[in-house]
Amino acid sequence: MTSEATGWPLTDPPSVPALTPYDLRCEHRVEPLGIGTDRPRFSWRLASPVRGDRQDAFRLRLERDGVKVWDSGWRTDQRTYVDHGGAPLTSQTDYMWRLEVRDAAGKVCEASATFATGIFHPEEWQARWIEHDYETDPYFEPPVDRDEPRTVRQATIAAPRYYRRSFDLTKPIRRARVYATAHGLYQLQANGRRVGNDELTPGWTDYRYRLAYQTYDVTDLLQEGENVVAAVLGEGWWSGYVGWDTRSHAHHYGKKPQLLAQLVVDHTDGSQTVIATDSSWVERTGPLRFADLLMGESYDARLELGDWSSPGYDAAAWAPAGDVGADISTLIAASTEPVRVTEDLPALEVTRNGDHYIVDLGQNIAGRVRLRVRGAAAGDRIRLRHGEMLESDGSLYTANLRTADATDYYVSAGGEGEFFEPIFTVHGFRYVEIDGYPGELTTADVTGRALHSDTPVAGRFECSDAGVNQLLSNIRWGQRGNFVSVPTDCPQRDERLGWTADAQIFLPTAAYQADVLTFFENWMGDLAVAQTDEGAIPDVIPHVITGRHGTPAWADAATIVPWTLYRTYGDERVLKQAWPTMRRWVDYVRQANPDLIWRNRTSGHYGDWLQVGVRTDRDVLATAYFARSAEFTAAAARVLGLDDEAKRYGELRDRIAAAFVREFVDAEGKVRGDTQTGYLLPLAFGLLPEEHEQAAVKHLVADLEQRGRSLTTGFAGVALLCPILTKYGHSELAYELLHDDRYPSWGYSIRHGATTIWERWDGWTEESGFGPVAMNSFNHYSLGSVGEWLYGGVAGIDQAVDSVAFRQLVIRPRPGGRLTWAEGAYDTPTGRVSTRWEVNDGKFALEVVIPPGTTATVHVPTSDPESVQESKRPLAEQDGIEVLESADRALVCRVPSGSYSFTAAGV
Ligand code: BGC
Repeated sequence: MTSEATGWPLTDPPSVPALTPYDLRCEHRVEPLGIGTDRPRFSWRLASPVRGDRQDAFRLRLERDGVKVWDSGWRTDQRTYVDHGGAPLTSQTDYMWRLEVRDAAGKVCEASATFATGIFHPEEWQARWIEHDYETDPYFEPPVDRDEPRTVRQATIAAPRYYRRSFDLTKPIRRARVYATAHGLYQLQANGRRVGNDELTPGWTDYRYRLAYQTYDVTDLLQEGENVVAAVLGEGWWSGYVGWDTRSHAHHYGKKPQLLAQLVVDHTDGSQTVIATDSSWVERTGPLRFADLLMGESYDARLELGDWSSPGYDAAAWAPAGDVGADISTLIAASTEPVRVTEDLPALEVTRNGDHYIVDLGQNIAGRVRLRVRGAAAGDRIRLRHGEMLESDGSLYTANLRTADATDYYVSAGGEGEFFEPIFTVHGFRYVEIDGYPGELTTADVTGRALHSDTPVAGRFECSDAGVNQLLSNIRWGQRGNFVSVPTDCPQRDERLGWTADAQIFLPTAAYQADVLTFFENWMGDLAVAQTDEGAIPDVIPHVITGRHGTPAWADAATIVPWTLYRTYGDERVLKQAWPTMRRWVDYVRQANPDLIWRNRTSGHYGDWLQVGVRTDRDVLATAYFARSAEFTAAAARVLGLDDEAKRYGELRDRIAAAFVREFVDAEGKVRGDTQTGYLLPLAFGLLPEEHEQAAVKHLVADLEQRGRSLTTGFAGVALLCPILTKYGHSELAYELLHDDRYPSWGYSIRHGATTIWERWDGWTEESGFGPVAMNSFNHYSLGSVGEWLYGGVAGIDQAVDSVAFRQLVIRPRPGGRLTWAEGAYDTPTGRVSTRWEVNDGKFALEVVIPPGTTATVHVPTSDPESVQESKRPLAEQDGIEVLESADRALVCRVPSGSYSFTAAGV
């Protein structure tokens, strides 16, 4: 079993003597290079050991080369984000900001951070798009030596190419930056060294409208005299295979990979040297023979080019690059963390299976392998096939990959100490089948490298039950394996698309585990441009392949994602940008459904996707989501000060709720279809009047009981199950589902060795073995949306209904099930909140840390509220603790920021 503790750890806030700002962000990123706006937003977190501490005022000063650019003056507003309030910032410039924070006692603490702007003005781009000159050379490379292709399609893949440009610098260097992107995937080098550690750049966006460029600092890589800037260029999402599309070649955006890069060197004397891509660059093929995200890579070490990206290299035989124009109209500055290798996993076990070796990493990941090759002769070919599972005979299970080959080839140049690691492919795998390896393969020869968008880790959860911890680990790995530039459904088969329902359903869980604001903001940019003229949202974003749009629960990501981001991070800009999309989406549904029951314009209508043995009524699901979208649109309007719109969509939402009840709820409070999800949706979305609410809970519980406490929910219902049961006083039932290991349950997959969340409850069963191969991913995060409840319900870290950015915390741990303790930590926008509870001998203990500037309502579960103490003293003796309610089963109090230690008898 792999524990999440081994990788992707949550960094603790600094331990400080007084109120201290830390984690300073510009555009929500730490010291970003190349931001795309001249009016960035600033934010920071706070730490303090002092109870009741808060930021009384702050002052922000922005400087450029030591010269003041903007001074906010002392301000007392408590916004999470402070917009730059001075003159618009200058393009391609380094800034430093100094933050002063004054605490409640008047003491000031200072911190500072830097950032740099990107290229703001189109005329500053001198770079031109370059590519292999297909006029003078065959359009495509001949088929590469890859056997057993699943299809013949790969014959038309264009070989990766190597680009370089040598130049002289005659003056001392002050600063050097590269701004670069590609139609395809690129990896930069300068003077023989890799530039940065980003992977799969420029990432996937809707390239028709948005293409991110990256900014790198290369000051330390350059020298006076000869320099070389260079790149490897492959196809990626631009022209490689994407999804299941079986056209002769994917070519979703274009046919030819192209590179665009601009190196800007500032000299100490104030002059500049600009080296930009154009026909003075030269290019050729090299050892990387073939590279595709789905199919894999082929590398022939015999064709290595030596020090091809270093000065002094003879590139006389290289061909001039073709210049294909300078259209930069789609360029945007990269605004989110890139994909990176975030963890290396040593191989756990190597076994022989017939001619092959089977390597087990012990963990299903998205990424690739680094292979050490010892003692090979020149021309020896090693093949690596990747899979998530093994067949019962120990061979690799690949049926579920569909047409994704997920196969890499390495041809040795002979000699000792070779290493192979692909650069432009990603596989979803736990096992690697290796053949052709010379000699004995050992675990030390293979390392799994996990790749994903490097969203900062934001949360941690652990409890006394190993099964629940494994579930949490599976959920985290599901997130890591599927947040690869965009939120995808799965990392292994020929799909890996930004399915909208999967994303919106998992978002609340995702946000507890990582800071996903910029990751989803970027994705929302692709969602906005994909909205149809009529207002519909495609099923997958970036929009490719499916052709379907407007599906209930899928397209509603248009309202759910921005609203959830706003609630989580408190950033109004998200709503401002999403507002037109939200409104148009709701209008699109309303126009076609005058009686407010969403029956028309339902597109793919997948219902409660992958539910088990039941069929939740599709109109019920659709109409509930219609109400939800209207509600969030109204809420967004309210935040944006659009009062008329707020009223209009608020009323619409109420009318949809009324129509829902009229149409679907009978006199006994039964919702049409009588399924778990059928009750969960209206309960979670608040559609039922009080008299029906309790009845719905009763029917929901009755359904669970009647099935022997077994769930039937699919994608749409599963996230709501435990939270709703808990909300209505049935947390014991929620715990039973959590601990259940009979089919269908999370525990069932864990009992059968799952290290990630499976796409379907019946991915593998004792009775039938593997589930339907047409759709059987073992790394799909949707059913892992129960994670939200682990953080929010079990560890008890949540916010009040009308709170934003976790400013009004609700700390409500729920001891239950097999758990004797649980702990959670979460980085809210203002700082760290953490809880740890324990039940021992009928006594309950709760440690809580509340970040500066926030308050918390703490629920201490106890049958004896009188017994509750804090730091070993009765509550009445503790300053600042206000008892709100001393009820039957809990004592509820309000506390300001700080650390608390509660105890109670009779839990
Ligand atoms: C994807 C899902 C997606 C669904 C919609 C599947 O192929 O993997 O996660 O939401 O299609 O039907």
